[in-house]
Amino acid sequence: MLEQMEPELSRLTTLRIGGKAIACLLPQNREDLLAAHERAACLGGRLMPIGRGSNILADDGHLPLVLISLDKFADIRTVAEEDGQILVRAGAGASLAALLRFCLQNCLTGLEGLVGIPGRVGGACAMNAGSFGVETGEKIWQMETLDESGASLHARASLQLRYRALNLQNYKQLPIVTSVIFALTRGSKSDILRRMNLNYFEKKFRQPLGAWSAGCAFKNPAKGLSAGRLLDDAGLKGKKLGGMTFSSKHANFLINEGNGSAAAAFELLDLAVASVQAKHDVRLEPEVRILRWH
Ligand code: EPU
Repeated sequence: MLEQMEPELSRLTTLRIGGKAIACLLPQNREDLLAAHERAACLGGRLMPIGRGSNILADDGHLPLVLISLDKFADIRTVAEEDGQILVRAGAGASLAALLRFCLQNCLTGLEGLVGIPGRVGGACAMNAGSFGVETGEKIWQMETLDESGASLHARASLQLRYRALNLQNYKQLPIVTSVIFALTRGSKSDILRRMNLNYFEKKFRQPLGAWSAGCAFKNPAKGLSAGRLLDDAGLKGKKLGGMTFSSKHANFLINEGNGSAAAAFELLDLAVASVQAKHDVRLEPEVRILRWH
């Protein structure tokens, strides 16, 4: 029997907003993992990995989803060395913080830009999370996924990488990422630590790291054009509505002040899109993954 946990989105997301999914599966081993699609079909919902819930804005009320947590698939280890590249395999449920600690301990460079991103490996790959000039997808050597037909391996050449998006050749939709092999290189421990610290302090200086948020709410509309700056110029910085606010530190962070709701979040996002459109004639697109049915 597949283990389950409470399917409350307000407890499973960093925004701490959202209603209840049908179930949240917690596979313990590979056999459980392979049974997940069938289980979701029996329960009558779409299977969706929840990761750390750090890029999700979920609707209030009942959601027709069967969540899957890959928390038990968090192993990180070096698997091979090829052409001067060190191949590190990480389970989708490993946190980026744990992966970065592993890199530092083993003097591996390449991912330092991702410091301070709260997500898990699976989610960071699926959305090609990026920061300080590093995109997760560009370091992937191979990815393992799971769909109704079972597990499959995807070589680097079959990845289609875009800004905050990753897809696979011959797939309409990205299947669930279960593990990833990253190709990294050896570096000096002190240089790696210095870059991590610099990026972390820069992030902490610019972004409201401790707040209940889902990171940047909107994608940057073009290279060199910051959604945060456009929102700031349009007067959204610090704007409050129904327990939600755009951060007064960085206007692209939508924050739950404690009693926010999805309804208030959607209203504030709509207001932001309309204000930026009116002021700059630019249409902002959400970066945060919106789960909305009502
Ligand atoms: N700015 C303002 N007002 C604001 C916010 C920003 O004027 O309220 C200005 C800044 O002063 C700066 C420019 O806008 O001149 C760019 O801001 P920042 O350096 O903070 O970068 P960003 O484009 O807003 C992007 C990513 C972040 C990533 C940082 C650092 C997106 C949507 N955002 O932010 O990613 O951490 O660069 O590399 O791509 C995320 O994806 O969730 C995220 C936070």
